[in-house]
Amino acid sequence: MAEENRSQWNSRFGFMMAMIGSAVGLGNIWRFPNVIYFNGGGSFLIPYIVALFLLGISFVMVEYALGYRFKSSISKILYSIHQKLEPVGWVVLLIIFLILTYYVCVVGWDLIYFLLSFSKGWGADPNTYFAVNVLQASAGIEGITTFVPGVLIAVFIIWLVIFTITQSDLNKGIEFVSKILIPVLCLMVVIIVVFSLTLPGAGVGLTQLFTPDWNQLLNFNVWLAAFGQIVFSLSLGMAIAVTYSSYLPDGSKLVDSALTVAFSNSAFEVFNSVGVFAILGFMSVASAIPISGIITEGSYMGLAFIVFPQVFNVMGAYAFIIGPLFFGCILFAGITSAIALVEPISLTITEKFNIKRNKSAALVCGLGLLVSLLFTTQAGLFILTAFDTFLNNFALLLTIVIECIIFGWIYDFDKLIETMNEYSTIKVGKTWKFIIRYALPICILIFWISGVGNLIFDFDPVSQIIMVILAIVLVGGSIILSILPAKNDNYYKVLDSVRGK
Ligand code: ALA
Repeated sequence: MAEENRSQWNSRFGFMMAMIGSAVGLGNIWRFPNVIYFNGGGSFLIPYIVALFLLGISFVMVEYALGYRFKSSISKILYSIHQKLEPVGWVVLLIIFLILTYYVCVVGWDLIYFLLSFSKGWGADPNTYFAVNVLQASAGIEGITTFVPGVLIAVFIIWLVIFTITQSDLNKGIEFVSKILIPVLCLMVVIIVVFSLTLPGAGVGLTQLFTPDWNQLLNFNVWLAAFGQIVFSLSLGMAIAVTYSSYLPDGSKLVDSALTVAFSNSAFEVFNSVGVFAILGFMSVASAIPISGIITEGSYMGLAFIVFPQVFNVMGAYAFIIGPLFFGCILFAGITSAIALVEPISLTITEKFNIKRNKSAALVCGLGLLVSLLFTTQAGLFILTAFDTFLNNFALLLTIVIECIIFGWIYDFDKLIETMNEYSTIKVGKTWKFIIRYALPICILIFWISGVGNLIFDFDPVSQIIMVILAIVLVGGSIILSILPAKNDNYYKVLDSVRGK
């Protein structure tokens, strides 16, 4: 089934580090602490664990089985199942391409803060500094014609780093970088958490974080938040696991690996949020402001780029160590997740259009940089918010539902069970099939319908226009990319062993 000259991981460790690197990212470091805090604290762990098993582990295993069985890109897998399904694969790839374009921008902001952290260069008022000095943000779309030079340079540097890593082959690029950055990242987080627990007031933060608010379990939005966090944090539906597991050698223990990655990702975010809240507790005690006054709803960016600089301002000399470590963590986690987003797209371009791996990666980086320019204007934050909401809450979830239907109903799901179980120590079976066929699509559909409501009612007309343009790009782009004839005959070769019924 495997194509000739396909890349392969050098070691299981390399694969695991790359998978963990793809999952652990901005979502774990600045998104999760906000989400848990605003959704019931300790009691949030219940919907979170349900979402981890029902959605996270179940769907990630589908992606593993597909990649390992088909040894192909997502669009070719879908083409193999049914010719007419190829556009679904391209929709997934276009979604992750667009996510990548703004993800790089947030990593670029982080680069700015990483450099500032050596001198606390954000000054006495980090709130104003972020909005006025760093982003020079306009309230709406009107700033779109003015570039912000600092952000432009930072975004360019991050794209250059991604370009450089993706120019090497799988082993010297993603595998090598992940094997270094992920252990270093873990060490940095351990240092931050251990240090934060020694701070006066740490207990105040932890009490806030973990005190359960059981009433929240009856709140539908809390369950939705748990599902949203798992999707973002595990990079579900982004075809990364499909792509990475297609590089696995025969004899791999797929269920064991999927469980290890999913649990490591969750352990990382829960552990990291302990550090974040211990630090917020310190801030609360030091400045006599309750935590509810420090961390405000809806400000995921705010936590990293406003609240933390405020904390470092009152931390004294330690901040010159903890500050760079904190922003360095986001940088490393962001870069390993960003390179993971490039890989499924460049692999598909290579497979379909017969373009060398390094050239297709260069194409993705070049086009990505062009789209990212939008976020380096004064309207960057405004456009980014519309992109993020539409792509994550709307488009990605819908494609996960569609993929559940395709793989659960149209394809012969028992073949995926067989693939997963072949060499694994832990076996999966009928429960997994039931989840993919019924439980997961129904749950996500509920989440999705609620998301559509928010998109329609909560956003201003300009944001809604941006979302409509994105929808047109996704539908139109995927149809065009599917219709374009492949330059590689193998692309249309559908092997019987991978066909469903
Ligand atoms: N999974 C990646 C993150 O958490 C996208 O940032």
